[in-house]
Amino acid sequence: MAIHFELIYEDPKTGARLGRLSTPHGTIETPAFMPVGTLGTVKAMTPEELEALGAQIVLANTYHLWLRPGEDVVREAGGLHRFMHWSRPILTDSGGFQVFSLKERRRIEEEGVYFASHLDGRPLFLSPEKSIAIQNALGADIIMAFDECPPYPADRAYVEASLERTLRWAERSLRAHRRPKEQSLFGIIQGGTFPDLRRRAAKAVVSLDFPGYAVGGLSVGEPKPVMYAMLEETVPLLPRTKPRYLMGVGSPDALIEGVMRGIDLFDSVLPTRIARNGALMTSGGRLVIRNEAYARDFSPLDPACDCYACRHYTRAYVRHLLKSDEILGLRLTTIHNLAFLLRFMADVRRHIRAGTLLEFRDAFYEAYYGRMP
Ligand code: GUN
Ligand code: ZN
Repeated sequence: MAIHFELIYEDPKTGARLGRLSTPHGTIETPAFMPVGTLGTVKAMTPEELEALGAQIVLANTYHLWLRPGEDVVREAGGLHRFMHWSRPILTDSGGFQVFSLKERRRIEEEGVYFASHLDGRPLFLSPEKSIAIQNALGADIIMAFDECPPYPADRAYVEASLERTLRWAERSLRAHRRPKEQSLFGIIQGGTFPDLRRRAAKAVVSLDFPGYAVGGLSVGEPKPVMYAMLEETVPLLPRTKPRYLMGVGSPDALIEGVMRGIDLFDSVLPTRIARNGALMTSGGRLVIRNEAYARDFSPLDPACDCYACRHYTRAYVRHLLKSDEILGLRLTTIHNLAFLLRFMADVRRHIRAGTLLEFRDAFYEAYYGRMP
């Protein structure tokens, strides 16, 4: 068995769950946030630093590693864990989402997707079989079915046709999988913002009996209440005893609302990407460190944080580093944002256990957003 999910506790007041997801490379306490390491590196972080920050699993992307350095290089290195020197769990996304976000010069057919490389424009083709073969070579603990994530907004006829094709691609992904004893293949539920299509997708994907299920196609520009409504249509149709993953979500409010609707896993580039742009997630809300207001602010990035960056550096200094394009600036803001979000998820787990998740949510919203988000 490639993974084993143990459901430890279900919160009677919310839909939140505590779980333990065992993989060939160790165990993940859920609900969990997965930092994104698209190219086999969480930008600017060493694996030792990630581990010290509390990261339990990282996500990498099939599409990017296929183009560079190529899955054969990774296989010859002994797999992605050894290649990137990360011995804990890894999840690879299937490449569908990345290809679809290219937009220009792509053509979707039943067989797969024809598109141009974002590196040199050369023509490429990705299909369920190709994506799974690459993911089998990369060797992540959890791999994803090849799907289409329709844009928002999209008309119903398009989303329906796309969904039916994604269901056929899910079956082809399952048939193409060669390492089910070492790698667990998760199915992805699409259906846009149409409640009945979401329900149809959930039932159809569940009938294929994957070891875990992802909700895709959300956090693509739709209002948050629409995303939450789609979770409420979908999650109740998923088996209680299997892990559930909400793709592409990493803002604190969406994490907690997802947890309260029964989600166990999340990933997003948000904390690391905004860190490199100088936006910090702090106990008092978002803070743009490049602002003039911080030029002489010699307090820590976040006075409530005990991360390496907050223990040793001031806002004024980190602002200076970023404005001077110094590499250390990116490292320190990334360390802090990951520390903040991973601690937030640890707090969420602690409050589920204590039965105080709703109180934690309300207090967090007040401190971070100054109101309900
Ligand atoms: N990442 C965020 N959303 C999606 C999605 O719908 N599909 C895939 N494969 N990855 C995603
Ligand atoms: Zn910090």
